[in-house]
Amino acid sequence: MAKTGASTKLPRSKGTDMATFYEAKECARKVKYLVLQGQNRRIVDEFMTILERREEFEQHGVPIPNKIVMYGPPGTGKTLTAFYVAASLELPLIVVRLDSLIHSHLGETGSNIRKIFDYARAVPCVLFLDEFDAVARTRESGDEVKEMARAVNTLLQCLDEFGESSLFMAATNLETELDPAIWRRFDTRMTYDLPAASEREHYIRLLIGDFDCEASVEQESCRLLDGCSFADIEQIVLKAKRKAIIERQPLCGSHIRLSHEEYAPVPISIMSHS
Ligand SMILES: Nc1ncnc2c1ncn2[C@@H]1O[C@H](COP(=O)(O)OP(=O)(O)OP(=O)(O)O)[C@@H](O)[C@H]1O
Ligand SMILES: [Mg+2]
Repeated sequence: MAKTGASTKLPRSKGTDMATFYEAKECARKVKYLVLQGQNRRIVDEFMTILERREEFEQHGVPIPNKIVMYGPPGTGKTLTAFYVAASLELPLIVVRLDSLIHSHLGETGSNIRKIFDYARAVPCVLFLDEFDAVARTRESGDEVKEMARAVNTLLQCLDEFGESSLFMAATNLETELDPAIWRRFDTRMTYDLPAASEREHYIRLLIGDFDCEASVEQESCRLLDGCSFADIEQIVLKAKRKAIIERQPLCGSHIRLSHEEYAPVPISIMSHS
């Protein structure tokens, strides 16, 4: 379970912690499987290599990358990647709670952002800001509130002064709403998408594991679950397994079909317009 860091206290706002602290071991427990798509696997592996061989990069005067932005539809593994990176680097993960960061008082949001970044400078960690678009909305958009514009400026400064002891990761569904000045601050960008057929198949196989199933079930699920996110697929396969257990039968195509109908995943195109 989440708990407060022992050495330096997490900053607070409105009487609550502005972030949740996860030990590296807790992060490892949360990441049973992570299917990284396309070049994301390579990006993450390269990232780990660089951090393991930090000195060589310092000798060459090549800066260490430590600011990652992830964007793509819901349920595709952005948050999971943050847990994975923290677990792999054996660093705690600090998940910022946006609701407690954003404040209606003048200058308070910016000051909260600064407190969080100060914390990450003092305690080596992976600092993760989810729903990043909420803070980093473009300063040019018409309905921009001045407080948020100020907060964006603070964020830019904090990113510039971040140093090299921690990692900053941010995730968003809405990359078009990000301020271009913010985009430039990131040295690593990762794009997420709904799983392609081969990724679905791989993921479904992992989810089924050694559960007793009919031979055709993997391929049938893969076809049926086209257009679903990884998170949807996980829920549907779990539902189907429950049905199989209730019936004391091997998992079969009809369990998957029924679960898909019941779960009725929301198409991403509808979600993004809501
Ligand atoms: N690429 C993936 N590989 C394995 N499991 C995944 C993947 N993506 C999602 N999942 C499953 O779905 C759950 C939710 O995924 P996650 O929270 O990482 O999505 P997200 O991209 O951060 O979505 P959102 O944009 O809604 O925050 C994960 O905990 C995991 O069980
Ligand atoms: Mg997420």
